[in-house]
Amino acid sequence: MNHRITVVGTGYVGLVTGACLSDFGLEVICVDKDRDKIETLKRGVVPFYEPGLENLVNKNSSAGRLTFSNDIKAGIENSDVLFIAVGTPPKENGSADIQHVEDVARDIATYMNGYKVIVNKSTVPIGTVRLVEDIIKRYQKQPFEFDVVSNPEFLREGAAVYDFMHPDRVVIGTDNERAVSIMKGVYRVLFLNQKTPFLFTDPESAETIKYAANAFLAMKVTYVNEMAALCEKTGADIVSVARGMGMDGRIGNKFLNPGPGYGGSCFPKDTRALVNIAHNYGVTMSLIEATITANENQKKRILSKIEIIVGELHNKNIGVLGLAFKAETDDTRESPALSIVSDLARRGAYVKVYDPKAMDQARVRLSGLDNVQFCENEYTVAEGVEALIIMTEWNQFRGLDLARIKASMKKALFFDLRNIFEPGIMRKLGFEYYSVGRS
Ligand code: UDX
Repeated sequence: MNHRITVVGTGYVGLVTGACLSDFGLEVICVDKDRDKIETLKRGVVPFYEPGLENLVNKNSSAGRLTFSNDIKAGIENSDVLFIAVGTPPKENGSADIQHVEDVARDIATYMNGYKVIVNKSTVPIGTVRLVEDIIKRYQKQPFEFDVVSNPEFLREGAAVYDFMHPDRVVIGTDNERAVSIMKGVYRVLFLNQKTPFLFTDPESAETIKYAANAFLAMKVTYVNEMAALCEKTGADIVSVARGMGMDGRIGNKFLNPGPGYGGSCFPKDTRALVNIAHNYGVTMSLIEATITANENQKKRILSKIEIIVGELHNKNIGVLGLAFKAETDDTRESPALSIVSDLARRGAYVKVYDPKAMDQARVRLSGLDNVQFCENEYTVAEGVEALIIMTEWNQFRGLDLARIKASMKKALFFDLRNIFEPGIMRKLGFEYYSVGRS
């Protein structure tokens, strides 16, 4: 049976989920209460940068499989599988704010008109499946049967469409056989191709897998950043150390690139949420607490290294290339680049910045600082600066005309915080070159 899908929430998780499921041939309604967002999507415009998503949205909208609406009542009535993909931002104490999830659960209770499978796609605290079940039981107008399922997402921004279509695994958390078979139908395209491992488990385990995986990845990146700090003192080369580590199958060679510290909308949020969840159960996640601290220390270490080498920052022109928290996204949430730019500006430097995709978001987040100049390209940034800092590993920065860059800089001081260049080549070109974990 072809299930009809409604996805509530058209952020990067909800919209990617809706567009990809419609590309699997399913009829999908993407619902959001934000009228402007829905109008934009109806015009075939995706209001954020995610490679390949706009084409996928337009392809499936024109095929009539993918529609957008503000009408959550109709969305609930007309579909049998309802994905909750609304935001779960961190509260002051680090716990996930699930107010929007609870609101959608109440809407489902109010409007449901028959059996439904409700799917928690948003990253939610362990136990939220049971909470959504309770809410629906308490508020539903008639005792319709339903099942609530945990189906966490493992999408990387900048690769979200690829990751949805080629997942390392699909995790489904439910105790109910009927819900299992319906979810196999929803993911039929992946289930039948036999290439995608499916893990069917209980809801709490599925919810825990999401936090456990993300916090582990954050710890892995932070581990390599601390190893990089040691390499800078011992003269070892972190790139070689990471390669040597990664050749051990038990470690794996991914996520071993040192940088300015992790950012984004997931690692910072999920590590804090996991520590908070554990704390509520009287459990201390000391390694993840240490990861959070070590990540902040990495940003401080980077800034003090720049300050020591540049010297007095007051009235100095400093160039920063890259503002997004990583390449291939316009997302600047918890971006280390923004904290470095703010710190440099607050210390009196005149900071010239450029990012291929994140300028609009950065303008908003840096709006209080008047000594930040938003430039139209990398070369304008480099003009007259006493130091140039690579913060985000956009491929176009790897192709910079370095001779032209050096000629236009006031001083050839180059900080490569993503190790996108080779030290030997940079020094041959006459740069005073600093990177991460390479002396
Ligand atoms: C992450 C998880 O990868 C994804 O599975 C989950 O669903 C959401 O969170 P994302 O936050 O989009 O995805 O970015 P990711 O590519 O994982 O990078 C996270 C942070 O680690 C970024 O700041 C990135 O710059 C940093 N990073 C990543 C490194 O510094 N070095 C690496 O080798 C990899």
